[in-house]
Amino acid sequence: MNGNSNAKDFLSIRDFSPSDIQYLLTLGRQVKAHPTAYGGALRRQTLAMIFEKPSLRTRVTFDVGIQQLGGFSLYLSPAEINLGKRESVYDVAKNLERMVQGIMIRTFSHEIVEQMAEYASIPVINGLTDYSHPCQAMADYLTIWEAKSHLEKLKVVFVGDGNNVARSLAFAGAQLGAHVWLATPPGYELDAASVRWARERGAETGGTCTVTNDPDEAASGADVIYTDIWASMGQESEAEKRKHIFLPYQVDATLFRRAKPDAIFLHCLPAHRGDEVTNDVIDSPRSLVFQQAENRLHAQKAIMLELMKGEFVKLPGLVELQELVHI
Ligand code: CP
Ligand code: NVA
Repeated sequence: MNGNSNAKDFLSIRDFSPSDIQYLLTLGRQVKAHPTAYGGALRRQTLAMIFEKPSLRTRVTFDVGIQQLGGFSLYLSPAEINLGKRESVYDVAKNLERMVQGIMIRTFSHEIVEQMAEYASIPVINGLTDYSHPCQAMADYLTIWEAKSHLEKLKVVFVGDGNNVARSLAFAGAQLGAHVWLATPPGYELDAASVRWARERGAETGGTCTVTNDPDEAASGADVIYTDIWASMGQESEAEKRKHIFLPYQVDATLFRRAKPDAIFLHCLPAHRGDEVTNDVIDSPRSLVFQQAENRLHAQKAIMLELMKGEFVKLPGLVELQELVHI
């Protein structure tokens, strides 16, 4: 990568250096500002998209993104591949590496994505696992950067379940020098190892990771308030139980007023309006959720450009790119 890493894959925000993450975000802004400049960069390259869970944004933005770069996508539904049951992860990887130039995979266990990356000689991109959602975090910080013009020292507050989205938000915040707060109900905190990693990386970048069970304390003076559904895909049977537990963590106008007057609201979507967020917050002028959804496209185009560049694209270095972007 034009930061420091030679990563083949995009599996977790943790796998990269702060300058790698900064590089990808900067490339995302450049691609967003000048989409036609990258129109043929991945021509004739094909991305296989393996989905074992539903999707709107991830499917559409990867599909449209690779097309905009001159390539093609293949949508492979749960019924078609049936990973690990109809065919082993190893065999799927060994087939696909001879047919396509990249794999995007959304599945349950993070280990499956890691195995796919180990077995396949081509790039593998994590499109969400139970553990993490790194492409989402790239779009999240792209949106925050656009809104706030910088990222360091911002108070980025996630209210809700200590889930895949919260984890990637904390990892990326640590890489970028942000102050990430996670306000969750007792028993739903982010795991200690993830918090420890965020704190250790933050010690290098100026970022911090604070966990609390108090949403009011977390929201006070926030630059960003972020929430996600209370029961993630695969946890549907817990949805009713969680409604009661999570109700004090709903982002409503009262909680949002604790943030700075120019705070923004983010949500990875899909939203369950009336549960984790009320309509007056998600539909307010301070809500950037649809800009955030669009930024999946630009952030992922940067990731695909970086990983799948092959013979077709020569990317600028970070300093050169920063000059190009003028931000
Ligand atoms: N935010 C997100 O990943 O949306 P989808 O589940 O619709 O892809
Ligand atoms: N935490 C949610 C994110 C959806 C984009 C889930 O995993 O279902």
